[in-house]
Amino acid sequence: QMKAVIFDMDGVISNTVPLHYETNVRLANSLDVDFSHEWNQALQGLSRRKTVDAIIEKSSFTFTEEEIVEICAKKNTHYQALITQLTAEDAQPGIQRFIKDLAAQKIPMVVASASQNARLVLTQLELIDYFEGVVDVTKLKRGKPDPEIFLKAAEHINVYPSECVAIEDGEAGLSAILQTEMFSVGVGHEPFLKKADFYIDSTERLTIESLEVALNLHNK
Ligand code: G6P
Ligand code: MG
Repeated sequence: QMKAVIFDMDGVISNTVPLHYETNVRLANSLDVDFSHEWNQALQGLSRRKTVDAIIEKSSFTFTEEEIVEICAKKNTHYQALITQLTAEDAQPGIQRFIKDLAAQKIPMVVASASQNARLVLTQLELIDYFEGVVDVTKLKRGKPDPEIFLKAAEHINVYPSECVAIEDGEAGLSAILQTEMFSVGVGHEPFLKKADFYIDSTERLTIESLEVALNLHNK
């Protein structure tokens, strides 16, 4: 049975992967580093600091800790300027319907995003009130691909991992789910997503019915 659904946010709920790209490309260019959509995809699910460290590593610059903290802050200022423009229209296709259907069936939902801007984005999308909680990433010991964030999400609503469905579009996040007993859903076009228990190419295909069929097949 599907007792709860745990969502990644960027690329699953919100169409914000392009906004992370825009922010990352600006930072990379300022350091004379070539950036790509592929690299942006590979960075999904990693913290802001890890993202900044990865881009700096490809540059010929070295920075002090203080300067790196400053770069992270600047990157976030740029990102927040972009996300304050978001509206309900920037939800991924079909996701509002899916979330509303789950709410109607009283299935609790939690967000497990590495983004410290998750609450802000969900508020802009007018979806924040549907969630029982958003995991506080600042309190985690380890980020994705460690499973901690997903386990914390299940704990928050007192549900066993084996009773949860968890949805991801990123490689680090899917690796995290695969280390738990959760039923994993991979959404998008990246080849690694096929490792999920249930693979779909678009959030439009997320329905309670399709998940229940997939879960039943899986548990046979
Ligand atoms: C998510 C995104 C990443 C982003 C990270 C931190 O995991 O997929 O691309 O770097 O959140 O986001 P933040 O909003 O805290 O900078
Ligand atoms: Mg994502």
